Amino acid sequence: MTTQIKEAPPLGKIIVITSGKGGVGKTTSAAAISAGLAKLGHKTVVIDFDVGLRNLDMIMGCERRVVFDFINVIQGDAKLKQALIKDKRLDNLSILPTSQTRDKDALTKEGVEAVLEELKQDFDYIICDSPAGIERGAQLAMYFADEAVVVTNPEVSSVRDSDRVLGLLASKTRRAESGSDEPVKAQILLTRHDQGRIDRGEMMTVEDVLEILAAPLLGIIPESQAVLRASNVGTPVILDEPSSASRAYEDAVARLTGAEVEMRVGEDRKPGLFQRLFGRST
Ligand SMILES: Nc1ncnc2c1ncn2[C@@H]1O[C@H](COP(=O)(O)OP(=O)(O)OP(=O)(O)O)[C@@H](O)[C@H]1O
Ligand SMILES: [Mg+2]
Repeated sequence: MTTQIKEAPPLGKIIVITSGKGGVGKTTSAAAISAGLAKLGHKTVVIDFDVGLRNLDMIMGCERRVVFDFINVIQGDAKLKQALIKDKRLDNLSILPTSQTRDKDALTKEGVEAVLEELKQDFDYIICDSPAGIERGAQLAMYFADEAVVVTNPEVSSVRDSDRVLGLLASKTRRAESGSDEPVKAQILLTRHDQGRIDRGEMMTVEDVLEILAAPLLGIIPESQAVLRASNVGTPVILDEPSSASRAYEDAVARLTGAEVEMRVGEDRKPGLFQRLFGRST
């Protein structure tokens, strides 16, 4: 009998992109972070946990290529390999889309676990785009996570919900329930940061936010027109033309992989007189 020596599997890291409050930039961030990790050479898959809405495949620009989805795989109607969509821009990147129509209870804890375990054998990073809220869907998205990126806008209701999510990450996850020595590592990604609105007292400062939330800062993503432009053409902002937002996401992705990158607040500069006169863009 011959013994076959198999290559050691990657045993990927599961990172949930979560927030509590809706519309703060989770899907935008999941798309940017997964593309950024793949660009750095890491084999990455991004999963849409937002059953019913299905925004991720639009932001990734692959909505016309969806044949099978996460729910089909969980229900045994398709193999995982049939549902995974390979990104056309980055070899290392795959997308597992969700279903637009089916009922949310189709996502079961056992089903999610089986899919994640299979993905861990093949991918370095498994990025889970959570639905809004702190109910079942969001709890399932975070349950098996090794790390969490808590997307927060600098305003009171978003910060309050992020605080509740930090509580759930510390209590309602597999790591918490099994009494693991290593709790889910949670970091704050402050998005839609707008210095002008902070200066006018309309938004909280970074320091105000961090004073309330007991977790380290992963990055500061400025409010940027580039995000809307990129999502309109189905491109993760990090793969679109360089902008303050793409640079900020690149820094955050580098930190996620353990690199030390100085924290900076990038802003889209308003065109100054020089640019207006000579028609140069910033
Ligand atoms: N840095 C940014 N600058 C400008 N607009 C942004 C930024 N980040 C996100 N947005 C916009 O905010 C809106 C919500 O973003 P997104 O869909 O990523 O949020 P979400 O948290 O996934 O929402 P949901 O809770 O509904 O899933 C989108 O229109 C997006 O283009
Ligand atoms: Mg979303």
